[in-house]
Amino acid sequence: MPGIIVVGSQWGDEGKGKVIDVFSAQADFVVRYQGGANAGHTLVVNGVKTVLHLVPSGILHPKTTCIIGAGVVLDVEEVLSEISSLRAAGLLQAPEQLKISDSATVLLSYHRLLDAAREQALGHEKIGTTGRGIGPAYEDRASRKAILFGDLFEPESLRTKLEQSLKEKNFLLERYYDTKPVELEPLYKRLLEIADQLAAFRCKDASLLVHKALKSGKKVLFEGAQGTMLDLLHGTYPFVTSSSTISGSACIGSGIGPNAVQKIIGITKAYTTRVGSGPFPTELGGDLGERIRREGAEFGATTGRPRRTGWLDLVALKYAIRVNGITNLALMKLDVLSGHERIDVCVAYKLDGQEVKDLPTATGDLVRVEPVYKTLQGWNDDISQVRSIQDLPQPARDYIQFIGNEVATPIDVVSVGPGREQTLWIKPLFT
Ligand code: IMP
Repeated sequence: MPGIIVVGSQWGDEGKGKVIDVFSAQADFVVRYQGGANAGHTLVVNGVKTVLHLVPSGILHPKTTCIIGAGVVLDVEEVLSEISSLRAAGLLQAPEQLKISDSATVLLSYHRLLDAAREQALGHEKIGTTGRGIGPAYEDRASRKAILFGDLFEPESLRTKLEQSLKEKNFLLERYYDTKPVELEPLYKRLLEIADQLAAFRCKDASLLVHKALKSGKKVLFEGAQGTMLDLLHGTYPFVTSSSTISGSACIGSGIGPNAVQKIIGITKAYTTRVGSGPFPTELGGDLGERIRREGAEFGATTGRPRRTGWLDLVALKYAIRVNGITNLALMKLDVLSGHERIDVCVAYKLDGQEVKDLPTATGDLVRVEPVYKTLQGWNDDISQVRSIQDLPQPARDYIQFIGNEVATPIDVVSVGPGREQTLWIKPLFT
């Protein structure tokens, strides 16, 4: 069945939004399956920038149906404001373009307040979350207290659920975190308004919708958010997000079986970035780090925070290929590396004097590793106008080939800028 998962292979911000937008031209459906408004997917079309946090990145293509699946924590205010902005820009004119699963978890103001209060209480130990309430919302889901999207359309029981939830949340906010409580009535009233405005997008059984699409041979993309190293179970815990970001999550979050998946595309930036706290073996400080940040415009699309920057880490990439089952790679932002005399690529780590090639799973070990670099020749030319792989300067082609060989995975797509036209195809997407 023609399902393709698109997953971040690093610490997020690899360029998944652009890839999904470009791929969506050939897809019938795009499904967001995890995460929430912590994601910031940036699309640039004809110079116009659209930043999406919850609406899937296929939305610029009117014939593509975008689905928000059960695995997403849905900030209902945010999705509403994204929908209005898209409509104001002449997009999302038909409600059939966007479907929201009744089983998605609703994220409310108290989740955001708790996220902020917890981070503040952690002080120097903080995770550096996006402050979007992601952890508290997933906690509610796991502890079976969540309000689901479908609940918004049942006013009586919604009120009861909200009352129960606020009892506990307000206790925490007021008594534990010494902050203001959330009032029931205005929130309840607002949720009824929101339900009214989002009713047109409601989908009672999104899993069935995706299943039928796959069964009838429709092309379905599964859009991952964040990246492998931020996975709740397999990332650099506790400096991770609260959802599973690896490819297996696409099946769980959208309610389909693994046999529906034909390809898993790992999105990899030509260098590495990370936002928030936690280990980052190839991090560059100083002028070089600053230069990559500036030239790559590496500032968070959600929070505006400067991203930490460093060289490409093939130890981490190989790990991502393993835990996701990545079959093909897309190499993003290659143009940002233009103008460097030499480019380092991390091919192994030194851990306590020993060379290791497998990523240590203990975060404490990952903090101590030192990268072992292979130095490649850089290139001077501006490659952002190049439109085919053959026209790239030889050192850039060598860089691509070196990565593909080292990680034994084909690179199918190379991106040399944010625009759709700045996409160089090596192999077609759907074969
Ligand atoms: P949370 O997901 O807001 O709880 O944040 C947990 C960690 O994941 C923090 O280090 C965030 O900076 C990071 N994070 C969350 N979403 C993204 C993303 O979309 N891109 C990059 N980092 C993210």
